[in-house]
Amino acid sequence: PQNKGVNEHSKDKQLDEFRLDNSGKKLTTNQGVKVSEDEHSLKAGSRGPTLMEDFHFREKMTHFDHERIPERVVHARGFGAHGYFQVYESMEEYTRAKFLQDPSVKTPVFVRFSTVAGSRGSADSVRDARGFATKFYTEEGNYDLVGNNIPVFFIQDAIKFPDLVHSFKPEPHNEMPQASTAHDTFWDFAANNTESAHMIMWTMSDRAIPRSFRMMEGFGVHTFRFVNEQGKSRFVKFHWKPVLGTHSLVFDEAQKLAGKDPDFHRRDLWEAIEMGDYPEFELGVQMIDEEDEFSFDFDILDPTKLWPEEMVPVKIIGKMTLNRNQDNVFAETEQAAFHPGHVVPGIDFSNDPLLQGRLFSYTDTQLIRLGGPNFHELPINRPVCPFHNNQYDGYNRMTINTGPVAYHKNSLQNNDPSPATEEEGGYVHFQEKVEGRKVRQRSDSFKDHYSQAKMFWNSMSEVEKQHMIEAFRFEVGKVQNKDVQQQVVDMFSNVDAFLAEQIALGVGAKVPDAANESQVTLSSPALSQMNTAKSP
Ligand code: HEM
Repeated sequence: PQNKGVNEHSKDKQLDEFRLDNSGKKLTTNQGVKVSEDEHSLKAGSRGPTLMEDFHFREKMTHFDHERIPERVVHARGFGAHGYFQVYESMEEYTRAKFLQDPSVKTPVFVRFSTVAGSRGSADSVRDARGFATKFYTEEGNYDLVGNNIPVFFIQDAIKFPDLVHSFKPEPHNEMPQASTAHDTFWDFAANNTESAHMIMWTMSDRAIPRSFRMMEGFGVHTFRFVNEQGKSRFVKFHWKPVLGTHSLVFDEAQKLAGKDPDFHRRDLWEAIEMGDYPEFELGVQMIDEEDEFSFDFDILDPTKLWPEEMVPVKIIGKMTLNRNQDNVFAETEQAAFHPGHVVPGIDFSNDPLLQGRLFSYTDTQLIRLGGPNFHELPINRPVCPFHNNQYDGYNRMTINTGPVAYHKNSLQNNDPSPATEEEGGYVHFQEKVEGRKVRQRSDSFKDHYSQAKMFWNSMSEVEKQHMIEAFRFEVGKVQNKDVQQQVVDMFSNVDAFLAEQIALGVGAKVPDAANESQVTLSSPALSQMNTAKSP
């Protein structure tokens, strides 16, 4: 361990070095020259033209002109908060990760909650998945758990992510709709990429209109690995469980809020923390032994599948408390750079093909979003433990490397930081044995697209089913292309005949034959009523 001293306040203390307080100070230019006047540009005569030599005007305007950076390509709208994480009991048996060993240690965290599809200025309460990204500033370096509030994903291979996102973002010819799945391209993608069925069911459920960031579950989605001191590995999935319970809006509330208070979720989080009503989330893990990798009727590497909690119980291992609002949204929420590839010893990857692609994408996008390769130096991203290597220069470099020698190995200056052994905390990748031919293929074990979508539908109560039918009718009802609507109806007849029938009746599509033949039981009066409804 490089730094024994990490505690709940370590990050706050580090950020203190960067905080700026202007009170009682004289106004200066960025060169430190005091400014005598800040309301009038320098002119040739009080009614004359502005002079080029007005360095104060030029500097002030230039800085303003450059205030914006690109928003995130997805998850553009977000809001963050600080806090700490504490493990309940040592997880030594399962992982060597230091921040999961000692219940007396409070590891500082920064969390960013987000919507996925809308732009930075879009409304909070739209129907969408929510991002739930946590940066743990551990004594062994930063660990990022970059999750969502839905436990599965739309696609199975990262190479399809640009296609997925192009289908749900506003359509390129007219940039509509701003933040909604209610349009042709999204549903066309869905119908042509049926592995999306399970996540679409979640997206049409009330999970996609959470009541509050404080009342959302979080999921790492992918299968990761825990590796213990003895080198034994287990497959693991991560869960956040809100102490307040999981709650949703109803769609009518969500729609009204989008107009009346587009900041509803960030305001709720901000105000709860300001009032000392600190949001809390318990961390849970599901673990599967190496030997049981093939013991399930789904592939545990497939990110469109969850591990049913009845089969693999969630072990609650610790709690996160969010107890401090950020000082500055740009410096914290916007400049934060999360990455599922930021791991610490004891946490490793699986071969989930979606996760593998994510490991490339995040740093790549941040290189442009945050202006070059030095964004790890930004206050919010700096680890609280020391970091040393031979990297230097580049846009926005803050560190001043000293001396002529910056390479490994050197004997000239002997300032070359040396790699740490495993015992000294060096990260050693789990030595999984892999073999195979280089192929562009998806394993047959990923081909079941509907079983878990069905399981999800069957787990819903009547009222939850009713909400889902209404959501499908609203979203698919906005699709202009009749053929796309029909494909969607046909696709969801593979999940449930009644569901497909209800979507068809709602949007004016043909009820699939399978649905016609099925024995549909309308057990609730609300559903019977809906059965006769024509359109949303
Ligand atoms: C943000 C890529 C799947 C959760 C992002 C960003 C990219 C990206 C490029 C913007 C990052 C930035 O500008 O800092 C991908 C790719 C995926 C994928 C290529 C699949 C191949 C997922 C999945 C999850 C997820 C499955 C959930 C488990 C998030 C979250 C953020 C994000 C929470 C926002 C992070 C923040 O608050 O800054 N993703 N993503 N992504 N992604 Fe993914």
